Amino acid sequence: MKPTIAPYPLARFRRARQSPAIRGLVRENTLTTDDLIWPVFVRDGEGVEEPVSSMPGVMRRSVDLIAKAAAEAQALGIPAICLFPYTDPSLKTEDCAEAWSADNLSNRAIRAIKAAAPDIAVMTDVALDPYNINGHDGYVVDGEIVNDQTVEALVKMTLAQADAGADIIGPSDMMDGRIGAMRQALESAGHQNVMILSYAAKYASAFYGPFRDAVGASGALTGDKKTYQMDPGNSDEALRLVERDLTEGADMVMIKPGMPYLDICRRVKDTFGAPTYAYQVSGEYAMIQAAAQNGWIDGEKVMLESLLGFKRAGCDGILTYFAPQVARILQG
Ligand code: PBG
Repeated sequence: MKPTIAPYPLARFRRARQSPAIRGLVRENTLTTDDLIWPVFVRDGEGVEEPVSSMPGVMRRSVDLIAKAAAEAQALGIPAICLFPYTDPSLKTEDCAEAWSADNLSNRAIRAIKAAAPDIAVMTDVALDPYNINGHDGYVVDGEIVNDQTVEALVKMTLAQADAGADIIGPSDMMDGRIGAMRQALESAGHQNVMILSYAAKYASAFYGPFRDAVGASGALTGDKKTYQMDPGNSDEALRLVERDLTEGADMVMIKPGMPYLDICRRVKDTFGAPTYAYQVSGEYAMIQAAAQNGWIDGEKVMLESLLGFKRAGCDGILTYFAPQVARILQG
């Protein structure tokens, strides 16, 4: 039944906006600390904290300081942290073997976080790009990004991360069939409680630029990622990908980037009702920070409004570089 709206002046919408108390009472969506996943960059060394120039306020931290940051995030009530390694160029190879080394940067960071902050969930990134000499998420054979061979490598990477103690595996590679292969491997290895948050609808986006600087992949990348990441013109395809990944054993799904794709978030949530996340990516973060630094917008207000938009669009949570800043504001 369609609700009827009384004619003016019986209905006055401004009655519901008259004071903070009334506005709070009728508010449909809210942002809470429980909604936050904090992406962080890890690098080698000790006691190192190095700013990422294209992402003001974001640092690359050595393993010891990542563990410290995770403990702070845990104290702020942030439920999950997501690791991205800045890999030394000398470790990038054609076979990407560093990706599944038990002692690679990411796996060392998982163990350090688990020791320092056992209550925060640790999420990982599964894709070959930090380890690949040509910067692609998959193996390149004769100029082509090959699917099935890449999936085999991604499975090895997944198992190494689960062995290190990861709680949530985050495949961001967009190869076909990887979720099923990873899920089966996790079950066989006794990791039945390890979750998979699939980057199900990941678009070939220019908004990832600052991230590629942060992980040192910009220089390495040859060509673009259009043969595996989605075409920004597509929407129905996102639903088919989400359905496919849920069927293969994903526990949660992601839409990425965030703000330009809020329509996809809403369609995915309405269609499947699965735990749905958006990634407010590096370019979105950089735009807000840059405008705020220039005094063109109120950075704090825009940050909160941008994140609330994801909740309104149906998301259960957001990966955002703003996570600690937001948590501090929400904790008062
Ligand atoms: C790579 C990966 C990317 C991001 C997360 N994982 C970049 C890419 O696909 O080139 C982007 C995150 C961001 O821009 O904040 N597998």
